[in-house]
Amino acid sequence: MAPSGHTRLLDREPDHGFIAKFNEPGPYYSSYPTLGRWREGMGHDQYVRALVEFFEREPNAPIYLYLHIPFCAKLCWYCICNIQISNNRERIQRFVDVLLAEIDLLKRFFDCHGIVPNIREIHFGGGTPSHLDNAQVSSVVDSLRQLADVGGLDEFAMEIDPRTVTRDNLAHYHALGVDRISFGVQDFDPVVQERINRIQPFEMVRDLLSPDVRKMFSGVNFDLLYGLPMQTRDSFQRTVALTRELSPSRITLIKYAHAPEIRKHMKMIDRSELPAVEQLPLMFVDAVEALVAAGYDWIGIDNFARPDDALAEAARRKSVGRNFGGSTPGRADNIIGLGPTSTATFGRHYFQSVYDTNDYTKAVREQRFPIFKGFELSQDDLIRRDVIFQFQCAQELDFGAIERKFGIEFDGYFGREIRDLEPFIDQGMLEHSENGLRVTTLGRFFVRHICRPFDRFLQDGSQYRIHGP
Ligand SMILES: C[S@@+](CC[C@H](N)C(=O)[O-])C[C@H]1O[C@@H](n2cnc3c(N)ncnc32)[C@H](O)[C@@H]1O
Ligand code: SF4
Repeated sequence: MAPSGHTRLLDREPDHGFIAKFNEPGPYYSSYPTLGRWREGMGHDQYVRALVEFFEREPNAPIYLYLHIPFCAKLCWYCICNIQISNNRERIQRFVDVLLAEIDLLKRFFDCHGIVPNIREIHFGGGTPSHLDNAQVSSVVDSLRQLADVGGLDEFAMEIDPRTVTRDNLAHYHALGVDRISFGVQDFDPVVQERINRIQPFEMVRDLLSPDVRKMFSGVNFDLLYGLPMQTRDSFQRTVALTRELSPSRITLIKYAHAPEIRKHMKMIDRSELPAVEQLPLMFVDAVEALVAAGYDWIGIDNFARPDDALAEAARRKSVGRNFGGSTPGRADNIIGLGPTSTATFGRHYFQSVYDTNDYTKAVREQRFPIFKGFELSQDDLIRRDVIFQFQCAQELDFGAIERKFGIEFDGYFGREIRDLEPFIDQGMLEHSENGLRVTTLGRFFVRHICRPFDRFLQDGSQYRIHGP
């Protein structure tokens, strides 16, 4: 039975058809094409050429700078990220030294080409950036001052592991200019926490978010995962209720991807303790309904924002963007990455840096950007990306906007795709609007399915796979 106590977005309990469709594997389109389609063999030379061309065309384009810090204090058994567990301060310092060298490399590249990048946002992700000590975080931020006006950014965000920071650490980040923090929360249930090797009581998170701390940051995000071992529909509803109590300004709600063939440590999770797949859509629907009932705006597929948050404001302006970190306020679509695994996107290109820290160190020491794969989008790819991102970010597709931007005639160009969307219209997931097509409330649970007919990489019937090194 559906939990009581909040209004329903759907007019009835999801049936077998809903559940089966929701559970179909398929991409979440944090990029198009998805990471698995990018090509190895693109490296430093292509990256430099693409950057130079991009800044020639768009010298003032707003840039989002992403830094990947791969270290964590302790292994979470569910973790799919590219991480290294280390508490060896010298080892971490050696990494920081290479990261500083990569920042220098980027600075010299800009100087050499007369580029003054308009960096508007900085994001520290990982891994766990807060696993660096205060002096290390300071040294990275000081070095970034060569590239950006750190005090004048639109956003400076940092991922935090609440188990390993103090309020003093948070005050230090604030003093350095960080104005948004994101906590890995995942689940508040003690049994679930035990099964994922991440003990993090509710009180720990609550106590970190003291009124003083809240004043320091314009936004706090919580990451929640559904589909973890021992989770039930009820237990996850309690996690959502506790989350509401702490009232973060944003919430990222993601389905746990169990991929022990890619991340061996996931074998520590007993598959038999995972919730039945039929329960997953119900957990998601419950959570969406509870968060919307609590006043959150549902953004894109898996993000929620309080109405006063920049993301909710962007949704009202219809300017939400999407990148590897999920939904964004859409202020800076062009990303430059630093650190291993980091991804970049600008103009018609995607690039990714090597996963392995030794390969990363070697490249930077040789004065090369540590890129190992990428993708150059054709004109057709650019059009399809726009369509897919419009559906995901704005829940509607304005045919005229695509026609004007790309000089195509929408019906003619996408005749087959429009026919493929008819079943979604018949099932009440899509409807015709004045300008094109609009996703209905039911359809919001299936936006990524609605995007799929536009994905040329799936048109040969090939299946989507979770990707990793
Ligand atoms: C870099 S971590 C967040 C910051 C910090 N390391 C922490 O855990 O507190 C990024 C997020 O990726 C998500 N994540 C990790 N493993 C995942 C998986 N197997 N499936 C889906 N999301 C996952 C989690 O929600 C996690 O909070
Ligand atoms: S979830 Fe966060 S803290 Fe846990 S291993 Fe992954 S990156 Fe590290």
